[in-house]
This record gives sequence, C-alpha cells and structure tokens, in this order.
Amino acid sequence: RAAPLIDAFGRRIDYLRVSVTDRCDLRCTYCLPKGFTGFEEPAHWMSHAQMLRLVGLFVGLGVRKVRLTGGEPLLRRGLTGFAAGVAALPGVADLALSTNATQLADHAAALHAAGVTRLNVSLDSLDRDCFARITGRDCLAQVLQGLHVARRAGFAPIKLNMVVQAGVNEVDVERMVAFSLAHGFVLRLIEPMPMGDTGRAAGLVDVTALGRTLAQRFGLIPQLPGGDAGPARYWTDAAGRMSLGAITPLSRHFCATCNRVRLTVDGTLHLCLGQEDQVPLGAMLRAGASDTELVAAIRCGIAAKPERHEFDTRPQKIVRFMAQTGG
Ligand code: GTP
Ligand code: 5AD
Ligand code: SF4
Repeated sequence: RAAPLIDAFGRRIDYLRVSVTDRCDLRCTYCLPKGFTGFEEPAHWMSHAQMLRLVGLFVGLGVRKVRLTGGEPLLRRGLTGFAAGVAALPGVADLALSTNATQLADHAAALHAAGVTRLNVSLDSLDRDCFARITGRDCLAQVLQGLHVARRAGFAPIKLNMVVQAGVNEVDVERMVAFSLAHGFVLRLIEPMPMGDTGRAAGLVDVTALGRTLAQRFGLIPQLPGGDAGPARYWTDAAGRMSLGAITPLSRHFCATCNRVRLTVDGTLHLCLGQEDQVPLGAMLRAGASDTELVAAIRCGIAAKPERHEFDTRPQKIVRFMAQTGG
C-alpha cells in the first residue's frame, strides 16, 4: 500500500474536491461578477476519463472523501455517469456534491442512485426578492423544489450553505434557522471570503458570534468536534433533528485541521483555497505523463501545501473567483 498523503504540518490529506466546471447559471454577488467572460477554454477541460484517472490516483494515495463542485456541477453534461465512476473506485467511502440546486429536481434521483451520498446546497435567503438580488435570478421556487425532491430521493443529511452578508441577508438568519429546524436540514452560516473583487465586496459578519447568539435563542447545544469535522463547528437541537454550523474562515480559521486539496476543471491541483500554490496535473496528463510521474507531482505538491490562507492579513491576495476553484 502506498504511503498516505501527509503534508509538512502533519495534516493527513484524504479529501479531494473536484470542480467539474467553472461555469454557473447564477451570479451570486460574492462569487462571480455579472458579465464575467474569463471561463476556462473548453479545449482545456479534462474529459470525464481524465478526471477519473486523476481521482483514481488520489484514491490510491489514501483519499477517502470526494466532493464534486463547480461553478455549478450540474451544468456539466454527463455528471451522473462521472459520479458513478468515482463512487465505484475502491476506497471511496464518501461522495458528496455541492450545488446551487437550480436543476437539482431533475437530477437528484439519478445522482443518489449513482452513489452520491451527501448533498450541500447553497441557499442564502428564503425571501424571493433577496434571493434574486443575491443570485441574479428569480428562481428561489426552483431551488426549494430541488431540495424537496432531493429529500424524497433519500439524501440525508442535506446541508444548506448560507453566506451571510452584512446589510443583505443578515436579517434572514432566524427565518433560515426556523426553516431548517422545521425540515431537518443542517444550516451552515458562512463568512464571505475575499476571493476576487466580488468576495472582497461582501459585507463581513462575525459568524462565530452570530452562531453563538442563534444557538442560545433556539436552545441549541454545542456539538463536540468529530473526527471528520470539516470546516464547520456545530450546535444541535435536543432531538438531534437539526444542526447549526458556523464556517468562520475570518473570525476563527480552521486551517490547522485542513484535510483537503482541490482539482479544477483544467486539472490544476490547488493546494489551498486561499493561496496560489498549484500543480498543473492536467497539463502533465495532456503531455503524456505516466501514473508514476503524476503521483510524484502530487506528493511534491502536498509536501508544499501552505500552512493557511491569508484572507485576514492579505485580503487583496486572491484574484480568482470562488467559482473558478470550487469552494
Ligand atoms: P462537508 O464535507 O459537508 O463539511 O462540506 P464542506 O463544508 O467542506 O463543503 P462545501 O462545499 O459545502 O463548502 C462550504 C463552505 O466552506 C464554502 O464557503 C467553502 O468555500 C468553505 N470551505 C470548504 N473547505 C474550505 C477550506 O479548506 N478552507 C476555507 N477557507 N473554506 C473552505
Ligand atoms: N466566500 C464564502 N463562500 C463562498 N461561496 C461562494 N463564494 C464564496 C465566498 N466568496 C460558497 C457558496 C457555496 C459554497 C461551495 O461556496 O455559497 O455554497
Ligand atoms: Fe454559482 Fe455557487 Fe458561485 Fe453562486 S456561489 S455564482 S451558485 S458557483
């Protein structure tokens, strides 16, 4: 068996996030600018077979958890077939999807059957106008229908991702908690990260403090961090039906327990969301690199994984938009 991927700070990397497209049908204000044209050339997109080869190499190196992201992953044609391919790789214990859910109603059942086990859905507001202002499209009803169908398809838990922006959807948080309590969703409040000028323009809210306040108001109790905690810290209700999570890259970063790296649609391996360090695995692959050469490049990259992002100290640093790397 190959040695696991452990970086210079002793962190074990067993989670790969794969962005299958950088395109999106929404333009969330903190994510993609209106009229954005800088998308990756289709000529540079990895094919499903190429992505599967790279994911297979990571799984051979101990990656257990794979998440499909974008942009909006459901815009990638044939995603369900690709997901089935990933789920079938021996060693993949967890296959998840992050989506904006505009097309989820059409794909939920097939994705579940393909082996996608967990679902995270972006939802910033339950107010139709506010939703449309943030995302650029009046499609809240479609998203809620997607959630409903996904639940019936058997996804559980379903996590809602709410990026909280000061002066925009801050006022909706209580309604979102009540909605999640009523439907048994996990709600995660997220601080906007300064990625691209869109991310930097979003009004910051201290979600560490907000989470505490809401937990108190709704009688939620802190959950002990599990082994596979991820970026969120959670509170739960007494019945264990609902959890509230706080993702706080700015007010309380979680880089010391980072377990992940990211692959973009052109095959670039990003070693940290908040740094530029990368390995051009896609270019190597297109130039005919062998598995041995690719594995060596992956190991070399992991050894150079940065200790943490600098969103708090150097907020101008990352010019790429979130949709280009996948959350
Ligand atoms: P789970 O596996 O369900 O915990 O998912 P996740 O929270 O890792 O993924 P998701 O795609 O739902 O992302 C939720 C938020 O967490 C997004 O805003 C991501 O950008 C952010 N996030 C995920 N991983 C990292 C990370 O390594 N660093 C930072 N700073 N933010 C991250
Ligand atoms: N900061 C924090 N989260 C962001 N997302 C998109 N852009 C940002 C940003 N600048 C979130 C989306 C989605 C998740 C994958 O990343 O809302 O739920
Ligand atoms: Fe699209 Fe997600 Fe970015 Fe919104 S946050 S524009 S849904 S990629």
